[in-house]
Amino acid sequence: MARPMSRPVPKSFHVKSFGCQMNVYDGTRMAELMQEQGMVEAGADDAELVVLNTCHIREKAAEKVYSDIGRIARRDGGKPMIAVAGCVAQAEGGEIPRRAKAVDLVVGPQAYHNLPALIAEAASGTKAIDTDMPAASKFDALPSRRNAGPSAFLTVQEGCNKFCTYCVVPYTRGAEVSRPWSAVVVEARALVERGAREITLLGQNVNAWTGEDEAGRTQGLDGLIRALDRLPGLERIRYTTSHPNDMTDALIAAHGEVESLMPFLHLPVQAGSDRVLKAMNRAHDVASYLRLIERVRAVRPDIAISGDFIVGFPGETDAEFEETLAVVRAIGHAQAFSFKYSPRTGTPAATMTEQVAEAVMHDRLQRLQALLSEQQFAFNRATVGRSCQVLIERQGKSPGQMLGKSPWLQSVLIDGGRIGDLVDVEIVAAGPVSLNGRVTERIAA
Ligand code: 5AD
Ligand code: SF4
Repeated sequence: MARPMSRPVPKSFHVKSFGCQMNVYDGTRMAELMQEQGMVEAGADDAELVVLNTCHIREKAAEKVYSDIGRIARRDGGKPMIAVAGCVAQAEGGEIPRRAKAVDLVVGPQAYHNLPALIAEAASGTKAIDTDMPAASKFDALPSRRNAGPSAFLTVQEGCNKFCTYCVVPYTRGAEVSRPWSAVVVEARALVERGAREITLLGQNVNAWTGEDEAGRTQGLDGLIRALDRLPGLERIRYTTSHPNDMTDALIAAHGEVESLMPFLHLPVQAGSDRVLKAMNRAHDVASYLRLIERVRAVRPDIAISGDFIVGFPGETDAEFEETLAVVRAIGHAQAFSFKYSPRTGTPAATMTEQVAEAVMHDRLQRLQALLSEQQFAFNRATVGRSCQVLIERQGKSPGQMLGKSPWLQSVLIDGGRIGDLVDVEIVAAGPVSLNGRVTERIAA
């Protein structure tokens, strides 16, 4: 057999993240780790290592990685070292370099603290593969935080025990694990020191977070939020994504009491028919979900509700889909994500008979998205005339224009201000996906 070809260890990297915000967070942490090794960040066209941080939640997302690998392998500057990270790496492991020879390295979401060693191994000419899910936390092995914009992500919980019948997450990300209280507080403080004014706590099931505070008391996500609320310099807290059954009384109460907890709740219901919810193993029904929303609105009337929906779950009838539309109308969303059901190998729903035809799913998705867009536009229009604070995150397209987020997570275009400023704004106009605001305070030029 020919000896494997060795090559120099790459000096530059580029991370491309797909899918959820947890992947964005993991991408940032991988970048920090490589920077600590002396590697520098570069563009996708000239980096010596390209990391594809993949998503496996739906087939389309998972397949995209293979077309990307082909494109990167043929790029003008010559083929870089190619690493596949994230949930496709976890699910497919060693299959990936067998199917796509250009791939040099495969690293699962629980193993990326081993990246430096894996990169060295790949440079020696061996395919480097690590999809272990060790009991010890990778977070302990990562360098402390180096990078933070005004709005930062912080993963506090990983994995899921819910086993919704359509979902790969319990298999790719494993069982629910909460990061310890002190680790979260230390990381939050480091992010604030590096300029973060808003932190979004992340987890596949973030509201199931549990841990012990400094005094040894058991705390839920509400306790963690209250502790972070006391961090000087941290102005805004958000969390995503949540399961209805982990929405505790204490967390609902926090929405009415903690000022820095932004009025936004991403709480997926997935479908509007009790029969479908049962087949999905969601373990809640429509009525209990609507009651939850009512209770959150009772303590925080202006809260923006977001969610996820799946159309065309196996066996979903026209009438059951109509029930989803009815539930959407009853909730009233500020925004929401909706998807066609995608069968995932290894999940119970993939082998259910009565898979719904593509054309039917397509039609249902169009109708649902039209309704959700209408609701988003209506929600945006309802904020016109209101005064609120906007956290400026980046420059807009035209000169002097800046883009930030309202408390309700809407994008707001304003004139003036600097990245990281939290400015008083009056909302003056609303479009379907963004707002225009007028700054009402004197700000530094
Ligand atoms: N098909 C379609 N959508 C899915 N989701 C999860 N698994 C699937 C699947 N197999 C959606 C759910 C979830 C969101 C992150 O992705 O709505 O809340
Ligand atoms: Fe998947 Fe359901 Fe867990 Fe969400 S709650 S990650 S949809 S299994």
